Amino acid sequence: MNTSIEFEKKLAAKEAVKLLSDGQTVGLGSGSTAGYAIREIGKLVKNGLQIRAIPTSDHSRDLAASLAIPLVDINSVDTIDITIDGADEFDPSLDLIKGGGGALLREKIVAAMTTDLIIIVDSAKKVEVLGAFKLPIEVIPFASSFVLRRITNLNGEGTVRMAGATEYLTDEGNYIIDATFGPIRDPSSLATELNGIEGLVGHGLFVQMARKVIMGVDSTTKTFEA
Ligand code: A5P
Repeated sequence: MNTSIEFEKKLAAKEAVKLLSDGQTVGLGSGSTAGYAIREIGKLVKNGLQIRAIPTSDHSRDLAASLAIPLVDINSVDTIDITIDGADEFDPSLDLIKGGGGALLREKIVAAMTTDLIIIVDSAKKVEVLGAFKLPIEVIPFASSFVLRRITNLNGEGTVRMAGATEYLTDEGNYIIDATFGPIRDPSSLATELNGIEGLVGHGLFVQMARKVIMGVDSTTKTFEA
């Protein structure tokens, strides 16, 4: 574990939770950086913060429950006030690659319902152009070969993510294809192309969704606003 990167993640998480207030419905992201935020939220709840939370993965749900953060069923709410989540890359337009941890589908649904999507990252996540990190793409298992061919048609190259000898399964029981497309200079048009592929249920390009990115850098934080 790189301790300075972990420190930056913690700093970003601590800064982000300052945005929370009583009465909010709060989306809980997934991944290590979001995990730091969930732990901070647990402390705030213990000290009296009154929120209800919607986790984006089984892992985040279990972590939140262990900290006594009140949870609510996503299907019982119309909107989410604020979500704090991580990212694998962000660019100067605050477009993101997410899903390294495999939770992209629920993360994107929660993000789409959220008024203020706050992304927390360490400084290694800042890029000029997205695409060095392989783009996670969630597919139903039945469609995996078909989607792999469609990715090739888009001049990409994908492989099904493995967990040992078998395919990695998401919380929704789907496969992940990790794909490279070279530098993604137009995330919006790639997202549109991917959205049109049958059997592809989600991808990690989050275009124009983030309201703020809070980045830990050395011993401080820097905030980028959309
Ligand atoms: C989970 O599926 C992801 O979208 C994470 O938010 C992303 O991979 C960042 O993870 P870390 O905070 O662990 O780097």
